[in-house]
Amino acid sequence: MAAEFPFSRLTSNQLTYSERDEGYRLLHARPEPSRRHDSGLCLVWRYDDVRELLEAAAPEISNAQSLRPLVGFGRIAVNPRAVGHFCRHLLPPPAKATADLTDDVLHRRVWACMAGPSGYFTVHADTRSERADALAEHFRQSLPVPGEVTEPLDVTAVSITYAARIIGETVGLPQRDWPAVAEWSGAQSGLLGRRMRGRELADAVGALGRLFTVSGLAVAHSRQHGTGFPGHLRAAGIPPRVAVSAVANSLAAGVHTVSGSIQQGMQRLLGDPDRKWWKLLGEPAGAARVAAKVLQLDPGLVGWKRNIVRPIVLRSGTRLPKGPVLVMFGAANRDPRAFADPLAMDSAGKVPLTFGFGRHTCPGKQLAQLAVEVFLRELHSRAPHAQLVDPARSPRSRPADLLFSGADIVIR
Ligand code: HEM
Repeated sequence: MAAEFPFSRLTSNQLTYSERDEGYRLLHARPEPSRRHDSGLCLVWRYDDVRELLEAAAPEISNAQSLRPLVGFGRIAVNPRAVGHFCRHLLPPPAKATADLTDDVLHRRVWACMAGPSGYFTVHADTRSERADALAEHFRQSLPVPGEVTEPLDVTAVSITYAARIIGETVGLPQRDWPAVAEWSGAQSGLLGRRMRGRELADAVGALGRLFTVSGLAVAHSRQHGTGFPGHLRAAGIPPRVAVSAVANSLAAGVHTVSGSIQQGMQRLLGDPDRKWWKLLGEPAGAARVAAKVLQLDPGLVGWKRNIVRPIVLRSGTRLPKGPVLVMFGAANRDPRAFADPLAMDSAGKVPLTFGFGRHTCPGKQLAQLAVEVFLRELHSRAPHAQLVDPARSPRSRPADLLFSGADIVIR
């Protein structure tokens, strides 16, 4: 009997780190390079194929559907509560500004506002240590009693608060809105990677709507006060509707990607009986190495969507039919064709694809790397002897999610 296809029943979000390691190993041992998933997406996992799809340089590969809800707009249209939220917050429909924008000229202008030399999210070498200090302060403020590691500590909750504070501040939302950023951005993440229905779907559309509403207020406010990321977009001449979407997309993009990486990283660091990588966090430059490895092996975002508009043969020879594809970079980052020994620290290999490749590469990459590094270092310095408390919830009780991945981590 043929071996069961890994990830057909459970997603990365529902597995322990060792189950993920085994699942990805089995995936790369398979003879075929792609597989149709029952979500309707075609799964692709080999490094070279994933990179070519992310790059989307060929006319057959499109990014236009990248932010489309997994259940499609049809399911939303027949859900009266979702329609109500949609009409209240999302009409006229938001402009495309980032991941799904196909106007390359406009996209380059928006992207330059976020990344590159004058990008708002860029972490410059000369101010890196001040940025790290500011992130450490966000860590302290995210603890249940600011500055103190209480026991037991819900690392999952702390990591979400931490990421929401960082992204809320970076994107320029008033502090009173930061706590809600986690919920709103969770809604966008859930809509992309989960098959939601009923009330859950309606609530997610409502939360996504509020994300756009507060982003609209932030852009309107910047017209008078000209500050922060919205002011930066305005100064660059980005049309207001596009600026609103750039703000909303950034708010949505940063929270569960950063916090999910921290959660899954902690699962591995403390789950390893030898705790070798956890101990490394106490060494100079150790946290940067560990964060880089966590982001290669256990990123909070494991896949992304592309659409094949006409059947294509990729450079490797992989044939893909017309239709949506799930580009599994969490898998590609462990492809033995690209990484000699992916599970080893400092092993040789190609550039991990965690942050994409090509013109849509993540503009928050440097900030995300630093945020994961600072969180792990700060937690280790306060709780070097931390132990995982047996989770009350098994990873199986987490929802199936094709894109986003995290873990329920409690320590004492
Ligand atoms: C571990 C954390 C993160 C991961 C794994 C991640 C991953 C990615 C990936 C794979 C893409 C490429 C999408 C594509 O090719 O279409 C992307 C795009 C994007 N990311 Fe991130 N990201 C992270 C954190 C952040 C943060 C902190 C921010 C904001 C401060 C951010 C903002 C964005 C935006 C706005 C885009 C769209 C870029 C464009 O298409 O122009 N991300 N991210």
